[in-house]
Amino acid sequence: MKYAARKPFPEGFLWGASTSGYQVEGAWDEDGKGKSIVDVRTDFPHGTTDYTVAADHYHHVDEDVALFGELCLKAYRFSIQWTRIVPDGDGELSAKGVAFYHRLIDGLIAQGIEPIVTMYHFDLPQALAEKGGWGSRATVDAFVRYAEELYREFGPKVAYWLTINEQNMMVLYGSALDILDGPLNREVSAYQKNHHMLLAQARAMSRLREMVPGAKIGPAPNIAYVYPESCKPDDVVAASDFNAIRNWLYLDVAVHGRYHPIAWAYLEARGLTPTIEPGDAQILAAAKPDFIGFNYYATHTAAAPCGAGDEAAIEGGDPQIFMGEPGIFRAIANPHLKKNAFGWEIDPVGFRITLREIYERYHLPLLVTENGLGAFDEVAPDGSIHDDYRIEYLRAHIEQMQWAIADGVEVMGYCPWSAIDLVSTHHGISKRYGFVYVDRGEHDLRTLGRSKKDSFFWYRRLIEANGLV
Ligand code: BG6
Repeated sequence: MKYAARKPFPEGFLWGASTSGYQVEGAWDEDGKGKSIVDVRTDFPHGTTDYTVAADHYHHVDEDVALFGELCLKAYRFSIQWTRIVPDGDGELSAKGVAFYHRLIDGLIAQGIEPIVTMYHFDLPQALAEKGGWGSRATVDAFVRYAEELYREFGPKVAYWLTINEQNMMVLYGSALDILDGPLNREVSAYQKNHHMLLAQARAMSRLREMVPGAKIGPAPNIAYVYPESCKPDDVVAASDFNAIRNWLYLDVAVHGRYHPIAWAYLEARGLTPTIEPGDAQILAAAKPDFIGFNYYATHTAAAPCGAGDEAAIEGGDPQIFMGEPGIFRAIANPHLKKNAFGWEIDPVGFRITLREIYERYHLPLLVTENGLGAFDEVAPDGSIHDDYRIEYLRAHIEQMQWAIADGVEVMGYCPWSAIDLVSTHHGISKRYGFVYVDRGEHDLRTLGRSKKDSFFWYRRLIEANGLV
């Protein structure tokens, strides 16, 4: 639909920015922090850096929060590292770890920035992975205990909570990046682990209700609408199947407490249905999110499977993201979309479509927890960073989000990835997303100094105007 005029963003819209703990903090083994599965990883693609120093946010936290204040952020979405709070995942608490996040949260609140906490962002404690990881129901209990500690400590200060970041990406592509259980426990199916994570999420949502009345909580999957390659009915079935497997499986359980029928049929056909124990259905049904958080980078396009080569990846695309599945769908490069420097498609209109689809299905307010452009930024001789490509990307997505608001979609906030440069999951520090530049290379830590990119000043003006100017 085309409208004569845009609707303004609602008052109190949460203009924010995002990071995750292990990608930004560094100090991976300081102050009693335990090791997580990302800390012990050694096989980095493209010879990129590990996460031991990252953006060294742990040692720059006051400076970074001051920058976020200067950026006029209304919200900051970050993740707490489980291993900073409970080093072995299920034992004693670390007082220093707890103190670090109090310092961060207090700093944000002093700047008038709403903290939005992700409880879990790919960083399973290694000690739990060694005891069975998400394949074991003991990890569900450990997660709930960890969540309770977070609510007890930070509940009085934090109004918005996110359970698990990109659970669907962990299940679909986690073994490629070792972000599910690390290289361990591969004999347990990813869908059994998924079921356990769904239980962990449901119990954590229900406990927040009991422990911090008034606080709000939601899931944070990566949702990307899947287009059919053509109007050929078999292509439409393939796209609908992949939508169910990639997107709705996760949100249906989070919101309705039951598995999506097509996703369940897929699991049955593949012999992948999880063991569901007595009481599980009640736990899932009892939990209700207040909103849906989701990450959006680009849509997908699917064609009917044709047998040989169904699983092939789109040429130039990210193989973890643009792979087909034999007998289900073939991944197709969308000829109508541009690609970024890393082969990822760019689809702002797909953002509007994705917002509309989620809202139509679930009728809950939406919080965009990630969206952004990874790029090779260059520092000019005078120290400035002219990232007009990032401004263009964000502007186009914000414009489409505003059209979605005109469509009647309730959007409560937008937290692009990322507040500050950090180590990406695929391409190290060279693939930058931040409004704030961090002076370091893949293996040369340089000064770790901070500087503001052009997008920093642009986003600040936008926030001050409560929308596009
Ligand atoms: C999301 C993750 O998948 O995408 C982030 O939640 C990640 O952790 C982001 O960094 C961008 O992906 P990448 O591979 O470019 O870092």
